[in-house]
Amino acid sequence: MYRILEKRELTPVTKLFVVEAPLVAAKAMAGQFIIIRVSEAGERIPLTITDFDREKGTVTIVFQEVGKTTKMLGKLGVGDKILDFVGPLGLPAELPEKGHLCLVGGGVGVAPIYPKAKAIKQDRRPVRITSIIGARSADLLILEQEMRSVSDELYVCTDDGSKGFHGFVSQKLKELIDSGAAFDEVIAVGPMPMMRATVETTRPYGLKTWVSLNPIMVDGTGMCGACRVSVGGQTKFCCVDGPMFDGHQVDWTEAMRRNAMYVAEEKIADHQCTCGGGSK
Ligand code: FAD
Ligand code: NAD
Ligand code: FES
Repeated sequence: MYRILEKRELTPVTKLFVVEAPLVAAKAMAGQFIIIRVSEAGERIPLTITDFDREKGTVTIVFQEVGKTTKMLGKLGVGDKILDFVGPLGLPAELPEKGHLCLVGGGVGVAPIYPKAKAIKQDRRPVRITSIIGARSADLLILEQEMRSVSDELYVCTDDGSKGFHGFVSQKLKELIDSGAAFDEVIAVGPMPMMRATVETTRPYGLKTWVSLNPIMVDGTGMCGACRVSVGGQTKFCCVDGPMFDGHQVDWTEAMRRNAMYVAEEKIADHQCTCGGGSK
């Protein structure tokens, strides 16, 4: 069992937990994730390792309450225990050794870009980091101070214009490229439409763009095939071959269709959760 040591409400729907998980913290690398199970009958869901402290034996996760399991998780508090906390899973991110990197985080996708920037700065690599983070509105923006502390420049965007640039993160990226920012590569993490839009923004410039895919996952070890994605015409399992892939090679239409496969079931499970019904 994995004890929650700290809980922060980053927005009304986004929570941060610091969890006691020394074996995961000992091996964790930027870009990896864990799979949790809240209860015996609960589903397994993947969440990114947002931060870790090897000495304290802790792992930080940030999650948005979007359905049954994340809502159940959000109800836990300091001192409560998470039943399963398996990881680190997936391949560590391949981070640049030098040059100018642009990190683009949309919504809760800011949480997965933070450890990448932190790792680069901790390693003292000569990499200039420009970060673009966005949310629907200012009250939904997360980890702004943390991202500022690991970025050379930080741009904040909101869809409604309540803070920073008025528009999508992909639009800000285009503006920066067109004004001569000269990025060597881009890493984009967030909802699928955001990652797809970012990839289509950089494609005409031939600018290498990595994305961190978030397909449905079950076992997280390459056994079930649930996380299958097509990249460069080849079948890949996101949990063992990813989660980061060359965004220009991803079959986005297929990936988005597969992510929407269980929407009806998810709605039923979520309704049972909010009205106190049975487990998923
Ligand atoms: P549901 O009602 O079941 O689903 C809501 C949405 O989540 C749907 O779009 C659905 O397609 C998707 N989803 C459902 N089950 C899964 C599953 N097992 N795997 C992936 N997606 C699923 N979210 C965060 O808030 N923070 C993170 O750091 C984070 N990191 C992720 C890292 C990876 C590698 C992946 C694959 C996903 C990550 N996600 C993250 C997404 C998170 O796993 C889903 O939001 C979560 O599974 C939703 O579960 P639910 O029961 O609350 O909602
Ligand atoms: P959201 O819908 O609020 O969007 C966040 C930002 O992304 C927006 O402010 C905008 O800047 C950009 N964006 C959104 N749609 C866009 C579009 N069509 N074109 C260009 N830019 C766009 O995001 P949210 O509610 O925080 O996202 C939750 C989703 O993110 C969930 O589906 C979750 O599964 C996913 N997620 C993905 C990962 C991952 O590893 N890829 C990690 C965590 C969460
Ligand atoms: Fe089962 Fe990736 S989650 S193969």
